[in-house]
Amino acid sequence: MGKIILTGDRPTGRLHLGHFVGSLRRRVELQNSGLFDKIFIMIADAQALTDNADNPEKIRQNIIEVALDYLACGIDPAKSTIFIQSQVAELCELAFYYMNLVTVSRLQRNPTVKTEIQMRNFETSIPVGFFTYPISQASDITAFRATTVPAGEDQQPMIEQAREIVRRFNGIYGDTLVEPEILLPDNAACMRLPGTDGKAKMSKSLGNCIYLSDSSEEVRKRVMSMYTDPDHIRVEDPGKVEGNTVFTYLDAFCRPEHFAQYWPDYSSLDELKAHYQRGGLGDVKVKKFLFAILEELLTPIRERRKEWEKDIPAVFNILKRGSEAAREVAAGTLADVRRAMRIDYFDDAELIAEQSRKFSV
Ligand code: TRP
Repeated sequence: MGKIILTGDRPTGRLHLGHFVGSLRRRVELQNSGLFDKIFIMIADAQALTDNADNPEKIRQNIIEVALDYLACGIDPAKSTIFIQSQVAELCELAFYYMNLVTVSRLQRNPTVKTEIQMRNFETSIPVGFFTYPISQASDITAFRATTVPAGEDQQPMIEQAREIVRRFNGIYGDTLVEPEILLPDNAACMRLPGTDGKAKMSKSLGNCIYLSDSSEEVRKRVMSMYTDPDHIRVEDPGKVEGNTVFTYLDAFCRPEHFAQYWPDYSSLDELKAHYQRGGLGDVKVKKFLFAILEELLTPIRERRKEWEKDIPAVFNILKRGSEAAREVAAGTLADVRRAMRIDYFDDAELIAEQSRKFSV
């Protein structure tokens, strides 16, 4: 059995640096590693609708934004299948059967769902579709027989829940589904990149994001106004690097060769941090260094995006062909699931004979 990747994003906005270090960068590396037999990348519009039912236009507008961000980052449609969740109806049927294998209290205990309910002030008015989206996500993953889900830490409870569904399904109906594993970022700073204001997470509503498609000028402004150490007032003051967003970003993006290229006064991040902590190093210099590193990263992404933007019909065509290919794979899994559940009545040659015998006595 081969190694298969399934992962995706909700199309509620353009993708930002948090998405990039949390999962996107890894996907491109895995895609180009040749270690995987198949890679599926899903634009999770149906999941996005679970808490945006009254705003379908937002989801509709962001399909192309997310697709452009994927292509700009180096997701290659010749190597990876990019598709739209709602175009694969088989996923709904799988979720319908999986719902019988999960209790309400188990869903209530899902920590990601819990936090999201609080964040959205749903309290007593939680849409059922939103509440059950971990089950739908288990369908996304298992429909493609995914072995590996590269995703951020916040997705861990989803994968755990998917694994439980797989074990329960296979336990009742026989070995049918594949148990997936999450692949987390390997660096703590990448695990949860803070917003530019130092808040826990990049989020559109907080206005603390650096988007992959931001212009050079927008990125410069964001970096120059980044949260640092509020007690580091004069250059000679000693500074803190813990909780200092600029240094957290350097932990996520800086490589040793960046020093030779952009700041030869230092030879490593540790050396730079030590100077900052001693005092005598101003924020502006460190911010300029971070900006140079981000520009090196974002320039080719921005340029590739511009190229694809010139041919939007081609991008939709990639999504259409990807969705058709995805649908075929999901239909294969669904057939296995129906057979295992013994609801494949018209494909089961034995059924009519067996029922005839039963009534002929
Ligand atoms: N829940 C993911 C997010 O918040 C999106 C998603 C939907 C997903 N289905 C998935 C991720 C399956 C990984 C695997 O962005």
